[in-house]
Amino acid sequence: MAHIWPIGGGKGGSGKSFLTSSLGRLLAKAGRKTLLIDLDLGAANLHTMVDVPYPEKCFSDFITKKISLLEDTVLATPFPNLFLISGAHDSLDIANLKLKYEYIILDLGAGTAFNTLDFFLASRNGIFITTPEPTSIENVYRLMRAIYLRRIRHYFSTADFKMLEKKVREHLGDDSINKPENIVSVVRKEYPEKFALIKKDFNSFSFKLILNQLRKQDNVDLGLQICKIIKKHLGISVDFAGNIAYDEHVHDAICQRVCFLDRYPHTRAANDLRELNRKMSNSFGEQLILNYL
Ligand SMILES: Nc1ncnc2c1ncn2[C@@H]1O[C@H](COP(=O)(O)OP(=O)(O)O)[C@@H](O)[C@H]1O
Ligand SMILES: [Mg+2]
Repeated sequence: MAHIWPIGGGKGGSGKSFLTSSLGRLLAKAGRKTLLIDLDLGAANLHTMVDVPYPEKCFSDFITKKISLLEDTVLATPFPNLFLISGAHDSLDIANLKLKYEYIILDLGAGTAFNTLDFFLASRNGIFITTPEPTSIENVYRLMRAIYLRRIRHYFSTADFKMLEKKVREHLGDDSINKPENIVSVVRKEYPEKFALIKKDFNSFSFKLILNQLRKQDNVDLGLQICKIIKKHLGISVDFAGNIAYDEHVHDAICQRVCFLDRYPHTRAANDLRELNRKMSNSFGEQLILNYL
């Protein structure tokens, strides 16, 4: 069975594709058969970061029945063990692919569309990424909140959820409905047995947060502070996994359409990525021996 790592960040440009391609490259280099899936329909560009200049087939070919087997939409990359599905969307059935790969990394779209939330919840090991900019942090917070609500929704029938929303409005006012903490407080009071299940469910998730594009003047502890705020306001635990330095070479590698880690392995950002990959592989239950250059 594959480990699935969904990568989400509320905002475009936070580095989801860069992180997906980099982790994929490191896992593949360590001998793990890894599949990257580009689920960012609006801006599918993951292929350029793994040296695939033009994807000659994509997920749409499966939808339009040009390709009959899902497996046949998988593209090889120039790197051993690293594979890609380009331009996938909500009808993708990951379960079908789970047996064939050790790792599947999902490059999710920006925003909080239901299919993005569902893909994020397809695994216990979701990774959030943001830059230190307040706009990006706000969007990642919004994404976490939406994921949280989506999961709570899962425990109620449509009729029961409507009833719950009505109760939240009655207790806490019309504006209160968008805040999961309000919903949770009503669930706790009115549906204690469901509350226990939801709490248990969230405790089994192992969410991670990565701060990308950290410049020298930025606060290195910002990630920890964000996690504390999330714990306080949403009641969910997100572990701060680490920072990735801002590095001009990332831009250079993308412009040259080559993999950053191969072109610029001796940079600070490359070190950060290797460190993160090591940490994540360990905490997600596998010891990897990484001999990357
Ligand atoms: N660590 C970094 N240092 C410098 N620039 C970066 C870094 N990470 C990402 N970028 C820049 O941000 C842009 C957006 O990254 P990308 O991974 O495409 O974001 P997303 O997939 O979240 O929309 C990239 O084109 C790159 O120029
Ligand atoms: Mg992207």
